[in-house]
Amino acid sequence: MCGIIGYTGEKTATPILINGLKSLEYRGYDSAGIALLENKKFSVIKSKGELKNLIKKTEKENSVSSVGIGHTRWATHGKPDETNAHPHTSSDEMFTVVHNGIIENASVIKKELEKKGFSFASETDTEVIPQLLSYHYDGNISSTMQKAFSSFDGSFAVAFLCRDFPDTIFAARRQSPLIIGRGENESVVASDTCALSENIQEFTCLEDDEFAIIEKGKIEIFSSGLKPINKKFRKIESVAEKHDKCGFEHFMLKEIFEQPEKIKNLLKGKIRNKKVFIDEIAELSLEIIKAEKIYIVGCGSAYHAALAGKFAIEELCGVPVEVDIASEFRYRNPPVKENTPVIVISQSGETADSVAALRLANSKGAFVIGIVNVPGSTIANESDYVIATKAGREVAVATTKGYITQVMALYLFALHIADIRKTIPDRAIEIYTEELCRIPDKISEILSDTSVVENLAEKYYNKNDIFFIGRNTDFAAASEASLKLKEISYINCSAFPAGELKHGTIALIDKGTPVVALCANERLFKKTLSNIEEVVSRGGEILCVTRKNKIISEKYLSIEIPNCSDLFVPILEIIPMQLFSYFIAKKKGCNIDMPKNLAKSVTVE
Ligand code: G6P
Repeated sequence: MCGIIGYTGEKTATPILINGLKSLEYRGYDSAGIALLENKKFSVIKSKGELKNLIKKTEKENSVSSVGIGHTRWATHGKPDETNAHPHTSSDEMFTVVHNGIIENASVIKKELEKKGFSFASETDTEVIPQLLSYHYDGNISSTMQKAFSSFDGSFAVAFLCRDFPDTIFAARRQSPLIIGRGENESVVASDTCALSENIQEFTCLEDDEFAIIEKGKIEIFSSGLKPINKKFRKIESVAEKHDKCGFEHFMLKEIFEQPEKIKNLLKGKIRNKKVFIDEIAELSLEIIKAEKIYIVGCGSAYHAALAGKFAIEELCGVPVEVDIASEFRYRNPPVKENTPVIVISQSGETADSVAALRLANSKGAFVIGIVNVPGSTIANESDYVIATKAGREVAVATTKGYITQVMALYLFALHIADIRKTIPDRAIEIYTEELCRIPDKISEILSDTSVVENLAEKYYNKNDIFFIGRNTDFAAASEASLKLKEISYINCSAFPAGELKHGTIALIDKGTPVVALCANERLFKKTLSNIEEVVSRGGEILCVTRKNKIISEKYLSIEIPNCSDLFVPILEIIPMQLFSYFIAKKKGCNIDMPKNLAKSVTVE
């Protein structure tokens, strides 16, 4: 992960770098730092923790330098302290570097350099980059870059300054994203387009093993063999969405409340003659539509969206769906046949494991359909077709609107394919389609009164462990509910298929153990109810998430959701569960939008 930014131009660099870092903080917030180049000297300012700490420090500085680089860190090698914060500078102070990625052979290179007399100040893998650049440097910067970067294994997006080139930023990339923006007399390098300053009119993406020499408004790009590359620059189309809480206390709450609108947005233009039709996949060939198997891969919440989508696709399209965690899929050599659809789900479109899964699928001749929120991201660019989830920029690290639009996109996909495969009657498609169109109102109904969930937070916020159980579609929602709560409240949560509890986990149920039972799936309600009874008879305390007016027992606490088909239950059940997590984390005083140890976009494996 980590976010990197660099600026060279005619303005004072510090505020531009800080603004860029603000937009990139979603990529990590363990520490932050900037380096400025002025009068052939670096001035490096670093700070542990969130960006606000660095901002305080920079306010005391009055540098007018107009060239600099910045970094916001998600620690991989070395604890999140100031010494390990980027930028890292070579011992001879010739190079200073910011890096996103992992240099996998850093320890070997470090040993070699130590033998040659180099000494290292930090525990990071990154520090080998400035030191190796310095080792190879003979005045020829291009060949120095070529020699240094060809030695590294692993992934890197790097921006660096060299004392001998007062107005220039150098950049290199392998696997981690890096874009370069150009304006009049100024240039910016960044991990994401959202960090480009407003005067930048166009940008290009650096590809694997390319180098860039970036000057004010002038950019030269080279291949690893140092051949100049004529890159296409794209106009920046839209101004980044406002980074504003709009009166909500946290971005997470704001984003929870945006969900009905975002789903409406996604539905727009996709309903025709009472059925679903997705233009983005209008040209899918019959061979792909009639495939005998579909794979879905993703990480974190995207994986949970896949779990929810699997039930809909299998039921409506009559095709087996294999769901996999991207970091597992990429290393297990799955026997994916040519032209088999592989759906890769990713909010950011940059998750390293999901990108690798996509590339593996591609290499096997699969047909990749990306379900992606960020247009222009790696997964969006490398998929054969993309279904855009249109959730807009998500700021809170714990995804809400990103997840829910992924689930909705999968439901829409299922209905689109079912219609062509003719696996269910037309009337059934119409009924399901109509139901999907009512989902935004049902979510609004849940959001219209949050008091029940807020009161429950009072009872649960001081628990150490909470279990989530559910069957079938309820289990998909339970998995996401459990992740949501653990990531923002730090309570130890785990989710189990309700029927699986008795095969071991029930040993952990004791007097007062909190168990959240998701049981809105009508078909399996009685089965889940038996599992609830098993928990209760061992002293467990049940909180049910159930359909409206479904009387389970006066004895159990419950949260009600509006009625819907069993297939679509996760998209409604997750709403009160997002709020449950939010209010518990708030009650505990946690940093809701930026939970510890996490990052929004995980670009390392
Ligand atoms: C991180 C985020 C999760 C997200 C996962 C996958 O772990 O904290 O919220 O679900 O990455 O991200 P993606 O961008 O691929 O959906």
